[in-house]
This record gives sequence, structure tokens and C-alpha cells, in this order.
Amino acid sequence: MTIQIAICGGGNAAHVLTGLLSSRKEYSVHVYTPLGDEAKCWQDGVAQAGGITVVTTNGKVLGRPSSIGSDPSAAVAGSQLILLALPAFAHESIIKQIAEHIPPGAWVGALPARGGFDLCARDILSRRSKEIGIFGLQTLPWACRIQQYGQQVMILGTKEQVDLTAWPPALANIISSSLQAPLGVKLNPIASFLSLTLADTGQLIHPGIMYGLFHDWTGESYERPRLFYQGVDASIAETLQQMSDEVQVVRRALEAHYPELDLSAVRPLGEWLQRSYRRSIEDSRTLQSSFTTNRSYAGLPAPMQQRDGGFIPDFHSRYLSEDVPFGLLVTRGIAELAGIVTPVVDSVLTWAQKRLDREYLVDGKLQGTDIFNTRSPQRYGYVSLDQFMLEMRYLPHTDDAAAVCQ
Ligand code: NAI
Repeated sequence: MTIQIAICGGGNAAHVLTGLLSSRKEYSVHVYTPLGDEAKCWQDGVAQAGGITVVTTNGKVLGRPSSIGSDPSAAVAGSQLILLALPAFAHESIIKQIAEHIPPGAWVGALPARGGFDLCARDILSRRSKEIGIFGLQTLPWACRIQQYGQQVMILGTKEQVDLTAWPPALANIISSSLQAPLGVKLNPIASFLSLTLADTGQLIHPGIMYGLFHDWTGESYERPRLFYQGVDASIAETLQQMSDEVQVVRRALEAHYPELDLSAVRPLGEWLQRSYRRSIEDSRTLQSSFTTNRSYAGLPAPMQQRDGGFIPDFHSRYLSEDVPFGLLVTRGIAELAGIVTPVVDSVLTWAQKRLDREYLVDGKLQGTDIFNTRSPQRYGYVSLDQFMLEMRYLPHTDDAAAVCQ
């Protein structure tokens, strides 16, 4: 039996997924990419090249999707698996566009989920929560870049393992075992979306290093782009350590309050680095050396723009525009519900919101006018931890949506 899959998105991740999955005869893959003229460019590329080639370190894989277009019903109606290969800021609009076309029993997943994906998906799909499963991967399994649009994409590196969670929770095992061979990565099922949100290390690393590199920037140009990960000095490493420690305080407070909760996947930053990049790190004695001697990070520049023959920081890059509203602010919002103070995270957020020209934290609370463009629990109206934990079904409970696991 052929399984129909819809892939939403037209960027690097969507190209890799489309190439890998449509190369297998058990899947029929339909691409939904409504942005600009992407669908037309992709159709032209596939027609010219005969499909999408994914270049990996082990060779090439050629796949040909069954359709590419900008009509949500053509791709999504009839699909059992719907994959959002998009930056987090596009999740909400795309889920709204496809919602009415999602068949009962389908599973909708984000690669990567970032923080609070379930808050957004549940809010939009609330009337259909018993018939649609949702899942998310903690990160994209690959570093990848399109080489020719609609024709060829390159996988530069693959993570050793990636955490995955789902609602209902039993779905996580089923999806992990179905997808890990086609995606070529070990998928590790974890307990809940709460774990996935708190365990997101991009929310610490990206805003934390941006803050460390540029919080005292006064407008000067640099001769060349600064190195991002190799730019981690002792003071930046200390900031990252303190941010990670604050997340661990939130984790321990939640575990103490709800003893049945499993947050074991919420690991300290240093431990996560070892798990993800053990073979790439030459000197793991300190957090700083784990960044600066990690071969997977070597040479990667900080996000910068050219100006007057030099380079200035790009504060609107995804390291802030995605990782703050769809990452660090979600965790900060959970800390606020739990009554935990996070002074170092707050310093980073206070600096980042100025650079993003947004207002999130006001008088130490998530009550700024721009929280409505975040996925913090406060944006969805949560004011009490118990209400949040119960309504988001983070505590182990009877599976009231078992139908979507079949
Ligand atoms: P990308 O920049 O290549 O893809 C962007 C695509 O998203 C656009 O081409 C468009 O198809 C879609 N999109 C954006 N805004 C949209 C909107 N408003 N409406 C409809 N569609 C919209 O991004 P990429 O590289 O595919 O990354 C996807 C996610 O994976 C991001 O969250 C990124 O941070 C993450 N990631 C990517 C890695 C990589 O190596 N490419 C590595 C690790 C994480």
C-alpha cells in the first residue's frame, strides 16, 4: 500500500525531505509551497532535472514528487502524514491554511518543532484533537543547503540522534520507528512536548551567543564576519552555562511539583553537546572548549550584514527572530507560571527584544504587546501552572486520542 505524504515548505529542509521520501516506492509525496513563485520554480526544476537529487556523504539519492503546488487541498487531502519543513514563524499560517483539508487519522509534524509547537497546533486544530495526531522533532536532522532550486540539495552533516515527541504520546514510538530509516537518523522518542520545549538547546545557544558577541556593540563595522561558535570565550560560556542552569531549575521545580512528570530529556547544555557531537569535539573539558573545538561548528560565521565595506551584526537573523519568540520566550513563560526567576535569561531577552524592536518582557513579566506573536503560554491565555499542565495534557493520563495511533 502506498502512503501519501504532504510536505509543506519550499526551502532546504523541504528539498531534503522531498528527495529522500519520494525516492522510496512506498510513499507518494505531494509538496505544498505557497510562498511567492516557489511552486512554479520547483516544478520547473524537477521537470528539467527529472527529480530532486539529495547529495549525501555516501552518494546521491534521486526522488520525484507526485505533485508540487500552492493549493493546500491538492497536497494535504488524502495524506496520512503531513510534514512542516518550515521556520517556526510560518507554522501558524500554514496550519491554518491546511487545517480544513487534513483527513481524520492524519499525523501532522514539524521538523524542527522549536518551542511551543503543540500550543500553536492545538489552538488551531482544537476541534479536531481527537482525530489528528501531532508530533515534532527537536531539531532538523541535517545541516543542508539547496544547490539548484527544485533540482539538487546537499546534506552537509547529519546529527547522531534527534529527540521526537507526539500527541498522543504513544504515537512517538510509531513515528520514530517508521521515519528513522527513510530519514537516515536515529529518532529518540521522548515523553512530551513540554520536554521538547524545555530541551531545545537552540533557544540557549543562539540568543546566548548573539548576546555574548554583540551586547556591547556600539555600531562599528568589523573587517570580517565574527565566528559564531568559535567566538565563544570564557564569559560567553559562563552566560550559556547560567542560562542552562536556569532551565534546569525550572525542570527540577516542575518535577518536584508533579512527581509523575518525566523531564529526563531536558539535559544540561554540556551533556547535550556531548550526546549530539561526541565524535566532533576535540576537547570536551569545558563548555567553552566544547564549542570552540567542535569540528561541526568550525568556521561558521555569526549572522552579519555587509555595510560600508565591512560587516555589522544582523539582529533580525533567525538566531533571534526565531529562537526568541518560538524558543526562549516559551521557556521563560513556563518559568513564570512556575514562579521561577531566570535573571540571566531575562538579561538576554531584555537585550534581544530591543534589538528585534519588540516588547515581550515588561516589569519582569511576559506582558508586552508583542507576546501575541510568540508561542509563550501567556499568549494562549494561561495564567496558572496547574491549568497549563492539565489542559496541555503534560501529565501522564489516559490516552483520549488513541484513534490516531492506529
Ligand atoms: P529555509 O530558509 O530554506 O526555508 C524557508 C522556507 O519556508 C521558504 O522557502 C518557504 O518555502 C517557507 N516559508 C517561510 N515563510 C513562509 C510563509 N510565511 N508562508 C509560507 N511558507 C513560508 O529554511 P530551512 O533551512 O529549510 O530550515 C527550516 C527550519 O529548520 C528552520 O527552523 C531552520 O532554523 C531549521 N534548521 C535548518 C537547518 C539547515 O541546515 N537548513 C539546520 C538546523 C535547523
